[in-house]
Amino acid sequence: MHNVLFVASEGVPFIKTGGLADVVGALPKYIDKRYYDVRVVLPKYTCMKKEEADKLKYLSNFYVNINNHDEYVGIFEAVEEGVHYYFIDNEHYFSGYGPYGNDVVFEIEKFAFFCKAALSILPVIDFRPEIIHCHDWQTGLIPVYLKERFQGGEFYRGIKSIMTIHNLKFQGVWDLKTVQRITGLPDYYFTPDKLEHYKDGNLLKGGLVFADAITTVSKSYAEEIKTEFYGENLYGILRARSNDLRGIVNGLDYDIFNPETDKYITDNYNAINFRKEKIKNKRALQKQLNLPVDDKVMMIGIVSRLTDQKGFDLISYLLDEICQDHLQIVVLGTGEDRYENMFRHFAWKYPDKISANIYYSEELSHRIYASSDAFLVPSLFEPCGLSQLMALRYGTLPIVRETGGLKDTVEPYNRFENTGTGFSFANYNAHEMMACIRYAEQIYYDKKREWNKMIDRAMAADFSWKESAKHYQDMYDWLIG
Ligand code: ADP
Ligand code: GLC
Repeated sequence: MHNVLFVASEGVPFIKTGGLADVVGALPKYIDKRYYDVRVVLPKYTCMKKEEADKLKYLSNFYVNINNHDEYVGIFEAVEEGVHYYFIDNEHYFSGYGPYGNDVVFEIEKFAFFCKAALSILPVIDFRPEIIHCHDWQTGLIPVYLKERFQGGEFYRGIKSIMTIHNLKFQGVWDLKTVQRITGLPDYYFTPDKLEHYKDGNLLKGGLVFADAITTVSKSYAEEIKTEFYGENLYGILRARSNDLRGIVNGLDYDIFNPETDKYITDNYNAINFRKEKIKNKRALQKQLNLPVDDKVMMIGIVSRLTDQKGFDLISYLLDEICQDHLQIVVLGTGEDRYENMFRHFAWKYPDKISANIYYSEELSHRIYASSDAFLVPSLFEPCGLSQLMALRYGTLPIVRETGGLKDTVEPYNRFENTGTGFSFANYNAHEMMACIRYAEQIYYDKKREWNKMIDRAMAADFSWKESAKHYQDMYDWLIG
């Protein structure tokens, strides 16, 4: 039996702001329990839903030093579907309306504390991992602290670490002196080949330099981040470490995302009866959102963080024009003010065409995946993307830009060969996106049989964790040796 520890800043069902939580919540369940004991460490945020917080049991407490003072570390535990979760309790850092705040220095201190605490609890919970699997910049200091201090002790000696990049854009960067003071790391660590980055301190870079292996969440993104355009100023180190970098595409939790059993949707369906049953969800959603109830109109869904990454400037450029077509667009998302307001404005201007739902709702998200005919994700960059996988699973055809995981998971329609599970365009250009949407409309309205055959293929595609979990296991075995 091999021990593996996940450390992350969010995980379903406890706390979620995006796809990272979906991955951290699902992957440990799908790693083969006969050979691996995978446990997870998360922060104990006070904003956690009460029903989840009630599952947590207190274990112990102690103090760690961070930013030149001692901080309380409480340890809580919960077991969810056979996986042990440990929670770091400290209300100075983990209270607030959501997991993350806008004060970068505070965020850096919060997650530096989290990294140190996550390493420090291991002897207390009596779990010695052979591998610590870290996710995104919030855990970037773990490989660093492991090398710098913990591995000096018997308990930690030989523990390997993996850094998984879910989004290279976020790195945890602030001026070097402040980062050095907060982390308490010696000068040795603040040179350009380690945590120093263009004169600043960079936590993710620390993880990328000191981890024993690096992964990211699709093959295409693993290649893209070695280029200047997608590399977010870290392509140098990623190129240097390209032998240790692999892309493993994300899967979906098929227990949660299953149109046949999903409790959130009004009418369950499957790959066999979707031709009759899926449409009932569309009718119900049109009613719920006060859109005209019309079986025939093509409904495009969007469930997303409303940020530049997701391609909303392309949409803003052409939304007026898109609204001239015979379409309904249902949006669920929160994010940058200008995009929230854009959708509110267009929903006011075209109440029969656009439904803008500017909030977070698990239930509505599932209803949109089930009800829409197509699902739009025109991202500027996309490490993997889970929403297009959810759409495929619900027989809703993705319209995507060919980047990162979108490129790897959506096969473009080819009408000569009768292949494909969605529609895609190559360049980050609003008119290319528009042409792609219009092409999808044409197939939807004029070639319904072809459209339905695409749904057959989309729903037959396998994006469960089965295959990808094996790739992670192979990597664990390779590291353990
Ligand atoms: P990212 O992690 O970059 O935001 P992903 O596609 O990997 O993108 O994952 C996004 C996840 O967050 C999906 O599970 C999606 O359904 C969910 N999501 C995004 N916005 C909302 C929202 N407003 N309400 C409910 N779920 C949302
Ligand atoms: C990030 C990426 C997204 C990916 C998710 C889970 O949030 O933006 O593309 O699917 O992490 O890996």
